[in-house]
Amino acid sequence: LLLLILALALGLTLGRSSGGIKNTFLERCQKFKDLNCQNVWDAFQQAYIDRDPCSIPGDAYEPFITALSLKLQCNRMMFWSKTKDLVHSFTQKQDCFVTVEDVPLGAILDGLTWCGKEGSKETFTTGCPGWSDCANNPVRSFWNQASAAFADAACGDVSAMLSGSIETPFSPGSVFESIEVRRLRSPKVKRMNVILVMEENAVTNCTNASLENLQKVLNAGISYGCKEVTEAQIHKCSSDPKIACGACW
Ligand code: APR
Repeated sequence: LLLLILALALGLTLGRSSGGIKNTFLERCQKFKDLNCQNVWDAFQQAYIDRDPCSIPGDAYEPFITALSLKLQCNRMMFWSKTKDLVHSFTQKQDCFVTVEDVPLGAILDGLTWCGKEGSKETFTTGCPGWSDCANNPVRSFWNQASAAFADAACGDVSAMLSGSIETPFSPGSVFESIEVRRLRSPKVKRMNVILVMEENAVTNCTNASLENLQKVLNAGISYGCKEVTEAQIHKCSSDPKIACGACW
């Protein structure tokens, strides 16, 4: 009887850990209307299932990205780098700015880890390669591809919340620097507004050398602006939806 109970407990634990990511995926997916979440899950899985987890190219996620059809309003897209918690606490409280993690493409997978294995049909959430263990890992390739799709869809004035608490707010090798900024195209994109977050420990301002670099990398024809904004101002803006859209900074 003891063995039976142990076997049952083990079975339940294993069942839950392998079913965990699918449940999380479907729960998050179902919050968005008009999505066939089982189809979306199938399109997602085919990117990495039964494959070496260090050989997943970004374009393996194209069927998944297509299944989620990015619908974005011009002038509202918000990019970010090294400001994850702050930018999301802001975008979740108001409707004027949207990050990729606020639309199904990013929201469904934000914070999750997954991979497959050759010879298996399962999705694993442990023992997967980390962000920098190999370049073509399932998680990193996904975010690279999703960020590229988000940047390709950008139109009008775009914003980027960057950190004034580091020496290089436009950080070499970041997704924002290496992928997103380089894909913005004039005249579809008109302007890049940098919101530089000034905390008490700020080490720089809008004259930062890496921001000069950002302006050089931007496609000719896209204008540029930078505003130094305190964290307190950002929190204030998100608590008052009336000022968040235009009058905030
Ligand atoms: N190890 C693990 N995760 C990492 C690493 C790393 N070395 N680098 C990046 N990430 C993941 C983490 O989930 C992290 O929170 O990417 C996220 C963003 O990393 P940042 O360096 O802060 O920013 P950046 O690389 O510029 O990416 C942000 O990409 O998510 C999109 O559109 C979004 O504009 C945003 C940009």
